[in-house]
Amino acid sequence: MDKLVVRGGKPLVGDLHVSGSKNTALPLMAIGLLTDGPVTIHHIPDLKDITTFRKVIEVTGTTVTGDASDHTLVINAAGLNRPEAPYELVKRMRASFYMLGALLGKTGQARVSLPGGCAWGPRPVDLHIEGMKALGAEVELDAGYVVARAKGGRLSGGRVSFEPSSVGATINVLLGAVLAKGESVLENAAIEPDVVECCQMLRSMGARIEGIGTRTLFVQGVDRLDPVTYTNCPDRIELGTFMIAAAISGIPGKPVTIHHANPEHLGTSFLESFERTGAGVLIKGSQIQVTAPEELRPVSIRTDVYPGFPTDLQAQWTVLLAKAVGNSKVHESIYPDRFKHIPELHRMGVNAIIVGDEVVIEGGKRIQGTSVMSTDLRASVSLVLAGMIAEGETHVLRVYHLDRGYERVEEKLAGAGIDIERVRYDEWADPD
Ligand code: EPZ
Repeated sequence: MDKLVVRGGKPLVGDLHVSGSKNTALPLMAIGLLTDGPVTIHHIPDLKDITTFRKVIEVTGTTVTGDASDHTLVINAAGLNRPEAPYELVKRMRASFYMLGALLGKTGQARVSLPGGCAWGPRPVDLHIEGMKALGAEVELDAGYVVARAKGGRLSGGRVSFEPSSVGATINVLLGAVLAKGESVLENAAIEPDVVECCQMLRSMGARIEGIGTRTLFVQGVDRLDPVTYTNCPDRIELGTFMIAAAISGIPGKPVTIHHANPEHLGTSFLESFERTGAGVLIKGSQIQVTAPEELRPVSIRTDVYPGFPTDLQAQWTVLLAKAVGNSKVHESIYPDRFKHIPELHRMGVNAIIVGDEVVIEGGKRIQGTSVMSTDLRASVSLVLAGMIAEGETHVLRVYHLDRGYERVEEKLAGAGIDIERVRYDEWADPD
């Protein structure tokens, strides 16, 4: 098993490069199942989640060629003959549940394991299942699997309303609706960039979707979609993570340049909050220059659906607040209990108290390096950020969580001046 060893206090200098978006690449790959013929997707990040989803797709008889290290995959569903997604793979990654909409849309049937996903709170899929029923599918739960069949062999389209707004459910229903034989209306649809990118790729394949980027999507089902070559967008959560890293570890007055960025995908709330900390932001096309201030100001945030503050940046923001002198709050409104990183930050001396769906932070305290445990993807990267500003050495254990969503993060940070290295270790070895 691997850990990351971070020796704190080194400034972040120079350049960082953002990889392709994980949460967009995954549904784009699922879209590749909706046509017979080669669908080429560029700028796929080289991540464990992508490898997992590639295996899920290959189980169906679909071929996936290309090497993630060259960031391009070619998906060809002409040989799709097994509309299934098995538990052994789906349990590793919740986004595998996109197979429900893709297989139902393409073949009229699907047998997909209920997902696992991150550790915090219940991660229901009721909106996905109700959505498929609204499109004309018969759905039953059988031994941990969702077994769905389109009446008459093809989805008929229908009206779906999402409460709460759900990125995954919106995309899953889109995957079913675009090849249905009628019209669908998706109300209170999610408008995250991941959804917009999916709509744009589907439209380039011949799908008929109106209202892209709004909370009501109108889909006119078509009989066939055509193969396409599409380029994935940059990862907005990695971008936000790097901006926070620059604000807490940069040299005041000395900008850090972040390349291949799309700042609009962060939403207005994050960008406004970020500038209120005193950090300097200069946007130059797909480059963002971030300059650390002499002293960070504490800025309380509340997570929300896009264009609100991304919940996937909540843990990272908490580390920024731990450095800024003064009291502030983080309110998590999307997920119950997405605070698994807080007890680990406590071990480093961060003064943060969980009160219901809020964390109250007293920043400016001394932060000391120690061994800490990753629990989920975004919590683990917040521990790396804390190690960067801590005194001494921080060992971030079980970084397989981090490897799900950050491509070669230790190489990227080491290339920008941070003292960080990946070390193999035996979790069960007795302390010497
Ligand atoms: C996507 O998850 C992302 N994952 C998550 O990122 C992200 O945190 C989340 O959107 C919110 O932005 C991927 O894109 C692969 P939701 P998703 O459905 O689609 C509730 C990361 O770190 N809900 O928008 O699963 C749900 O419980 C991951 O990269 C239902 O009630 O999130 C939550 O409270 C973590 N019923 C809210 O909706 C449902 O059927 C938003 O969840 C589905 C969701």
